[in-house]
Amino acid sequence: MNPAVLTVRNLSVQTASGPGQRPAADHVSFELRQGEVLALVGESGCGKTKTAEAIMGLLSPDRWKVTADEIRLEGTELTRLTPREAGRIRGSEISMVFQEPLTALDPVFTCGYQLCSVFRRHRGMGRRESRESSLAMFGRVGFSDPERTFNSYPHQLSGGMRQRVMIAMAMACRPAVLIADEPTTALDVTTQAQVLAQLVELGRAYGTAILLITHDLGVVAQYANRALVMSGGKIVENARVDELFDRPRHPATVTLLSHAAGAVN
Ligand SMILES: Nc1ncnc2c1ncn2[C@@H]1O[C@H](COP(=O)(O)OP(=O)(O)OP(=O)(O)O)[C@@H](O)[C@H]1O
Ligand SMILES: [Mg+2]
Repeated sequence: MNPAVLTVRNLSVQTASGPGQRPAADHVSFELRQGEVLALVGESGCGKTKTAEAIMGLLSPDRWKVTADEIRLEGTELTRLTPREAGRIRGSEISMVFQEPLTALDPVFTCGYQLCSVFRRHRGMGRRESRESSLAMFGRVGFSDPERTFNSYPHQLSGGMRQRVMIAMAMACRPAVLIADEPTTALDVTTQAQVLAQLVELGRAYGTAILLITHDLGVVAQYANRALVMSGGKIVENARVDELFDRPRHPATVTLLSHAAGAVN
């Protein structure tokens, strides 16, 4: 078995204001291994996004109380980093793609400028080098005319193109881990399939392990090696994908599978 690149142990997320409420994530533990695509599935509201945001350090301490025994990225314990150190790792060694790329891209800068910023900030590149790297990266994620993408503003691109720009930015530094939160849900079915295939292919080429949050069990079957099933803030099943489909153990998994079957029929 490959070594773990991300180890999460007893991660809990609660609203800071209402400690009496059910936690959004409740003692979540798992390992993401080198080279693997690990799916995180579960009904809406079960805590998938909050788990991802907590790992990324994106939850504001004013609103959320995050506790964990361990969130380790390769050799680095993320829970013990200063905000400055965390900022250096985020977007370079661990990065995230969100469901709605319009909110994650800045409308007032060109896509090229935004991708260049990643190379400048994390790789210390200058103007020309960051431009060349950006053009190459746009080509890598499937743009046939990288120059044109470089000069486009986010609103000039289709949803699928914007998501490719986000993937280019998230993968630019060849992170050890990519968290993709429903990365293609907002796209039409054909575009979804293309963007996902590209994402997984790039992960493979760069040796990036992917935590793939999805509602779509078809996606799980096609791309993931293992899956975590979440329900009510807890991981209730952690299984190889073939086992999950053949012998689901937890009632929440059975429910998900039956819904998926219903959607197909
Ligand atoms: N801004 C918020 N304020 C208060 N509670 C929230 C907030 N965002 C999420 N929650 C609660 O946290 C829990 C987990 O939400 P989360 O967004 O992680 O679910 P999810 O599994 O990603 O759902 P979906 O599949 O719909 O994206 C939910 O019960 C939700 O009600
Ligand atoms: Mg979510």
